[in-house]
Amino acid sequence: MQEVENKEFIPTIVAFCCNWCSYAGADLAGTSRLEYPANVKIIRVPCSCRVNPMFILKAFQSGADGVILCGCHPGDCHYMTGNYYTRRRMSLLFSFLNYLGIEKERTRVEWVSAAEGARFSMVMNDFAAKIKELGENKRLQDLRIKGDR
Ligand code: FES
Repeated sequence: MQEVENKEFIPTIVAFCCNWCSYAGADLAGTSRLEYPANVKIIRVPCSCRVNPMFILKAFQSGADGVILCGCHPGDCHYMTGNYYTRRRMSLLFSFLNYLGIEKERTRVEWVSAAEGARFSMVMNDFAAKIKELGENKRLQDLRIKGDR
């Protein structure tokens, strides 16, 4: 029997999640058996403000089609003001992405608490669908190390 090759595009999605809220939210989604795409690769960080905007560019350079940053809701950061820094940095990054020619819809900031497993699942499903719609991220491709993707 001849095998039919499935050419369906499966985006690579990187999700930076703060340890205290969003990662716990992801955990709750898992223990509640709520589904979110398997192509979402979670990177746990101590706080959303630990994510330097360069990490996001590096993820795109390394072949990510979408990068999402999740943290505690404003006012709930374990380190008090970390997510306020995140919000400011990311809004600067969004305008920089336009300059680089990367669609800004390829990145997003979302606040997800430890009690919001359902929200985590919904956000990831929605983001993955949006990235799938946008297609492969071809920007920064020339900077990729051969064999990266
Ligand atoms: Fe979650 Fe700071 S600890 S955003």
